[in-house]
Amino acid sequence: MLIAQLSDTHILAESSDRREAGPRSDDLRRCVADINRLDPSPDLVIHTGDAVQTGSPADYDHVRKLLAPLRVPVYATPGNRDDRNNFRAAFASAASDGAFLHYAVEDFPVRLVALDSIEPMTNKGTYCADRLRWLDVCLSAAPDRPTIMFIHHPPFDLAGTDYVNGYRDPRDRVALAAVVTRHRQVRRLLCGHCHWSSQTDWAGTQATTMPSVARDVRKGVDTPRLADTPLYQLHAVSDDGTVTTQTRLVVD
Ligand SMILES: [Fe+2]
Repeated sequence: MLIAQLSDTHILAESSDRREAGPRSDDLRRCVADINRLDPSPDLVIHTGDAVQTGSPADYDHVRKLLAPLRVPVYATPGNRDDRNNFRAAFASAASDGAFLHYAVEDFPVRLVALDSIEPMTNKGTYCADRLRWLDVCLSAAPDRPTIMFIHHPPFDLAGTDYVNGYRDPRDRVALAAVVTRHRQVRRLLCGHCHWSSQTDWAGTQATTMPSVARDVRKGVDTPRLADTPLYQLHAVSDDGTVTTQTRLVVD
């Protein structure tokens, strides 16, 4: 099973005159074309949030148009730049459970669980008691199925970067890790938000972050030779649930 991960595309409305609007559209368009060229094809795409920049319906119209050529389904979770209601309308696969945009996908050999870490009016993450309860019930329902979870805000600090204390209340991160530690079937937590690439041990599993697809806000990829090269990640999942990650350079 192969998963392509996109993150932090920060798409603006098609009518936007901001100078980053066009390049960000091109970055996503090139990633989508590259995913469609892959052989073997990925089974699905995960988007780990900040799909758009302002949260407006026009932003979402544009990101939907750019993602439309994908031949495989997209499962997305919102970032702090996203608007829950407009996001819900744009991504039908994000079939939310009540107030939050969290859900499980049962259609693949590996179970996917989307987590919702956003809170209006702050760019920091949050993970409240209601979400913790939902996650514990969700993971308890399938203890024997290898599971990949995805979330926008990394629930850990990234050493050597400016991403520290990324949750409004640090106790949220501790509580989230405590729940996941009890569920040994979780093989990976895929994250966005920090725009950097990293991997770390977390809650008895592995967690990774990836560079933003939007090159103008990408961090940690400072070689001039890659300045014009969008990046995304590919996660290959073996039958026993082992996840192997590579960064894909879009050199079209
Ligand atoms: Fe972002």
